[in-house]
Amino acid sequence: MLVILISGRGSNMQALVEAGLPVSAVISNRADAAGLEFARSRKIATAVVDHKKFATREAFDDALAKEIDRHKPRLVALAGFKRVLTPKFVAHYERRMLNIHPSLLPAFTGLDTHERALAAGVKLHGCTVHFVTAELDNGPIVIQAAVRVRAGESADALAAHVLKQEHVIYPRAARWFLDNKLVIQNGVVRVKGDDAQLVMAAD
Ligand code: GRF
Repeated sequence: MLVILISGRGSNMQALVEAGLPVSAVISNRADAAGLEFARSRKIATAVVDHKKFATREAFDDALAKEIDRHKPRLVALAGFKRVLTPKFVAHYERRMLNIHPSLLPAFTGLDTHERALAAGVKLHGCTVHFVTAELDNGPIVIQAAVRVRAGESADALAAHVLKQEHVIYPRAARWFLDNKLVIQNGVVRVKGDDAQLVMAAD
């Protein structure tokens, strides 16, 4: 039903599993990804497709797609998967691949989002689940959670507040998808039944 791609800690993957979503497999590009241990402990199929073993990005993406497609998932969820994907790979999973990004997109695409949010002096920060398109951290927005930035807060503290909300919104988005509730119209996602697509974190 759902295949999750990770590269490291895997706390979002864990949140998806613990929400009771039907996870068929967890795949990592790194054998030492800590999240694999959790998946194994839950008797979920795991696989490693090591990007270092492939000469090109295309060859890696082809091998990854083959591994994913063995499970015939309806949805692919990127959860801290730290690889730039080729347009061919993205096209293959068009409208059936989600990502979670630690900012209120379209602000702060890319890396070090919490540091950059603090440097910009924003008062509101957060996280976004979006459909994956060829452009990095772009694509139709499914749900966002907003977190107030506290005066003098460190990047680590802000990251922890945001991560807590990531674990709330990612399972919700994946469930909507699997329940066929998501409709994309002109690049904008609507949830059938008007479920709230914005979470405001309590202070
Ligand atoms: C999260 O902050 C996620 O938004 C970003 O990478 C981090 C992954 O954390 N894409 P985890 O591996 O899910 O704990």
